[in-house]
Amino acid sequence: MRISILGLGLMGRALARTLVKAGHSVTVWNRTEGKADGLGATSVATAAEAVEASPLVIVCVLDYAAVREVLCSVQLADRVLLNLTNGRPAEARELTEWVAARGGDYLDGGIMAVPQMIGTPGALILYSGSQPAFERYEEALGALARPRYLGADAGLAPLYDLAMLTGMYGQIAGFLEAAALIASEKGSVTEFTTELLVPWLNAMAAAQPRWAVDIEAGDYATDVSNLEVNRVGMVNLVRAFEDQGVKPDLLLPMQDVLDRRVAAGHGAQGLSSLIEELR
Ligand SMILES: NC(=O)c1ccc[n+]([C@@H]2O[C@H](COP(=O)([O-])OP(=O)(O)OC[C@H]3O[C@@H](n4cnc5c(N)ncnc54)[C@H](OP(=O)(O)O)[C@@H]3O)[C@@H](O)[C@H]2O)c1
Repeated sequence: MRISILGLGLMGRALARTLVKAGHSVTVWNRTEGKADGLGATSVATAAEAVEASPLVIVCVLDYAAVREVLCSVQLADRVLLNLTNGRPAEARELTEWVAARGGDYLDGGIMAVPQMIGTPGALILYSGSQPAFERYEEALGALARPRYLGADAGLAPLYDLAMLTGMYGQIAGFLEAAALIASEKGSVTEFTTELLVPWLNAMAAAQPRWAVDIEAGDYATDVSNLEVNRVGMVNLVRAFEDQGVKPDLLLPMQDVLDRRVAAGHGAQGLSSLIEELR
């Protein structure tokens, strides 16, 4: 299959290398020269030449402003533009219109992997936008990562991508606070993390699908632990951090939401009910 790639940063190069290895005929372009060396792809001097070369054009650059800059002078008639650049749902929806006005079909993708994972079983790419385009290229794109199509609204892939990152940042925030607490007593952060924290987090994560069902049902009754118990626990936690000389900065926003929910009279509900304070 003929596939073009615009943007040869760390991710673009991993995409190009993997598609070449899978046997595709890959044409590449990058703003700065010299990035195509060693990829085994055909390098061209302009973005327009790269778009001309293939019916599927993948763009992976810094942000959507760069995407528009790269594409501003090219024709996209009979082309599928797959944008694997990180962005917001609103940007993806706007770009759908922009690409359609230039005669192209738009697919958005959210890469849930680092470059080293591209082409390995652990990699996932979320897609949304033109379903016919996705179906036409699903098999070829399978060489990059496990594909998951979310729907015709192009904003869905960035929305789900950002939701996945949100879950990740929350987990990182908890890990960093916990590690700082252990380090405050010169404990082994490595031993704590591998032997205690990770198994505990895995067990907690296993309960979340049940929370998801409760959230969708608006049913926040709990037989595990109510908000008032957690509010008191959080006061202890924050004071313990202060006693140890550790800043609880990443925990404080959660304490604030917990306090508001209890103050609103919902102390008997479960932790999943905090979502009501976020809507
Ligand atoms: N790396 C990851 O782990 C990862 C994971 C998931 C998603 N992503 C997403 O993939 C995209 C690329 O990331 P990356 O890691 O490859 O970044 P990177 O290594 O910093 O590369 C950035 C690329 O964007 C190009 N670029 C920037 N501004 C441009 C402009 N105005 N016009 C034309 N080209 C421009 C750069 O070209 P020059 O070489 O000329 O500077 C380069 O090819 C980002 O949206 C990122 O969020 C990355």
